[in-house]
Amino acid sequence: QPITAPDTTQCGAADLPAGAEPTNCCPPPARRFKDFIEFKLPSPKEPMRIRPAAHLVDKAYIDKYEKAISLMKALPDDDPRSFKNQANVHCAYCNGAYDQVGITPSVALQIHFSWIFFPFHRYHLYFFERILGKLIDDPTFALPFWNWDSPDGMQIPAIFADPASPLYDAIRAPDHLPGGSSPLVDLDWSRSAASLTPEAQWQSNRDVMHTQMVSGAKKRTLFFGTPLKAGDLADGNGQGTLERTPHGNLHIWVGDLTREYKEDMGNLYSAGRDPLFYCHHGNVDRMWDLWKTLGPRRTDFTDPDWLDAAFLFYDENCKLVRCKIRDSLDNEKLRTGYQSVPILWKDSKR
Ligand code: C2O
Repeated sequence: QPITAPDTTQCGAADLPAGAEPTNCCPPPARRFKDFIEFKLPSPKEPMRIRPAAHLVDKAYIDKYEKAISLMKALPDDDPRSFKNQANVHCAYCNGAYDQVGITPSVALQIHFSWIFFPFHRYHLYFFERILGKLIDDPTFALPFWNWDSPDGMQIPAIFADPASPLYDAIRAPDHLPGGSSPLVDLDWSRSAASLTPEAQWQSNRDVMHTQMVSGAKKRTLFFGTPLKAGDLADGNGQGTLERTPHGNLHIWVGDLTREYKEDMGNLYSAGRDPLFYCHHGNVDRMWDLWKTLGPRRTDFTDPDWLDAAFLFYDENCKLVRCKIRDSLDNEKLRTGYQSVPILWKDSKR
């Protein structure tokens, strides 16, 4: 049986790390409903939203993006589209605010560490982006992606590093900001901060990408992660190659390492508070599309227990929408695409 959508009326206290500042990750109380509408694909006549690489955007784009994020941050707490509530969507689905519906004894709903990781985050970005587009009245608005798999994208994109910008988040590792003491992204980072030359760092990153996307991800379960069905409790061992590295490593690399829980990006409950989260996940989502181009057996699962797994999101009109994985598989049908940039890791040999 597939994982079912949670019941927002039963949303409860999130399981936060001991000592973390108490946070209610549930949707605004007046917006918790038993009922929802079913997701419908956007009309094929809608313009494509082509997500640009964050290091390549121009001033006009930055202005638009900053304005949209500012407006989202200015929405009141009782609006499920507010930046704060969007960050809490991630927390609620990661930190046990929801139990799986109809399962006794209760089992928390966890959208990491399994095959539901990619589709959940795709939908989260989809709605987040449409809310931003609506706030600035631009149906073509597309989020940027952090192109960390290319030598030009091996730093935190500059647009996120300006303290005066709404894209900034103060709770990050200062050393890892552009201009900091070790600003180059290490895709396999694990706290031993060996500073490599840009060339050596790129070689290492390229090998990581090749392993996680090509040589080490020849089978679906290796790339997507292990199956998670109704009643299963996700544990950290079920991660797919890309979810673990570089996705997870980069979360921790961006977070403030002096904090016990590495907020904001380095912990599931707080990651969505950093605007960079949605840019990081743009590239994660792009990797799902790319993986499917890398070989004949690299296709989506066909198991109905995956296809019918469902999540709830609030759309740009504040409606609660139930989304099944089966509708998320084709970005073009979601009217989403990615700027085409060179991909230099496909042929790396190890
Ligand atoms: Cu839900 Cu990057 O994590």
